[in-house]
Amino acid sequence: MSAHSATRRCTTLVLGSGVAGLTYALRAAQYGPILILTKKFRSDSSTNRAQGGLAAVLDPTDSFDLHVADTLEAGAGLCRRDVVEIVVREGPALVRSLTELGAAFAHSADDSDGLDLGLEGGHSRRRIVHSKDRTGQEIESTLLAAVAEHSEITLLEQHLALDLWVGEGGGGLRCYGASFLDQETGVTGLVRADHTMLSTGGCGKVYRYTTNPDIATADGVAMAARAGCSLGNMEMVQFHPTCLHHSEAKNFLISEAVRGEGAVLRNLAGEEFMNDRHPLGSLAPRDVVAREIDRETKRRGDKFVLLDTTGIGEDRFTERFPAISARLLEYGIVAGRDPIPVVPAAHYMCGGVAVDLDGRTEIDGLFAAGEVAFTGVHGANRLASNSLLDASVLPDRAGAIAP
Ligand code: SIN
Repeated sequence: MSAHSATRRCTTLVLGSGVAGLTYALRAAQYGPILILTKKFRSDSSTNRAQGGLAAVLDPTDSFDLHVADTLEAGAGLCRRDVVEIVVREGPALVRSLTELGAAFAHSADDSDGLDLGLEGGHSRRRIVHSKDRTGQEIESTLLAAVAEHSEITLLEQHLALDLWVGEGGGGLRCYGASFLDQETGVTGLVRADHTMLSTGGCGKVYRYTTNPDIATADGVAMAARAGCSLGNMEMVQFHPTCLHHSEAKNFLISEAVRGEGAVLRNLAGEEFMNDRHPLGSLAPRDVVAREIDRETKRRGDKFVLLDTTGIGEDRFTERFPAISARLLEYGIVAGRDPIPVVPAAHYMCGGVAVDLDGRTEIDGLFAAGEVAFTGVHGANRLASNSLLDASVLPDRAGAIAP
């Protein structure tokens, strides 16, 4: 490595400040000082954008077997069943621990003790724990508050990781930390760490149309590939069916939970075209819906399809999806009344840096979790709201490993 003007030492280095990096940091802090580097500001992450929620088996009519079966079905034969089982079984405990940390999830109107469980595409039961349409923001702010209070954790904003520091060690490759650029001062530096966690998110910005924030540029994938890690499943990029189609709107997602509450897709002739394409109609798994929208717009020569939310109605829409309805109003669309023009857009990278069940990459001392990692849990197509679950459960396991 070339000389750098700033060198730091910590036990564990975390790259990225979404749910995976923060969850890992909170667990790994038991072993010594943690440094989190994030390339923009602390809450600039895909987590913060997640509207829908966190899938967990909490309803008495639901079961782990059903959630596992739905995940495998959506993954189209490419999921690793052992990882799916682990992730699904931890769902209820995760909801409890986030609630204990202070996350406020929505309760059902008729039972103040019970959580309101939403429905999304591909789920055979209501199991989406949510904070209306700001679930990611609620989880992110809860984790950031816990990190801010932790005496062993330091978070530096505007610090862009440049490359992993990898060399020979213990008979193979070992990661010793990473180099970074402080974007405020222009100074480069080096962090030496016993463990390094890549939690840098996905690759949505490779695509012109995406639901992802601007930070989703796959830096972590590139750094890991340069260092010699295997990548897997990279061809499996999920498209979300319902991104707002509007000339002034940049990357605005209309949550799948809107269809879970009764909205339906129609072509510009008013036909509910999904009814002929899948038994679950507009609530089919999202890869099916995205493909069918693409097929329908090409067949008819249209630029978009319409999301009909009249079945939800204005009042209920505004109550259940306040952020979406406020944003739509900025474009003159009254949610619950007006049809919403939507198109599919790149949403989630199902592949990534190959890891084992504890988040270890092939390089000693280097871990990966969240969207950057290829765990096998999502297969060819991630089941809706399984990402906040996977990005919490697996880094928590990785954080338990002593350096
Ligand atoms: C959504 O709210 O539709 C997105 C949820 C997800 O990507 O799982």
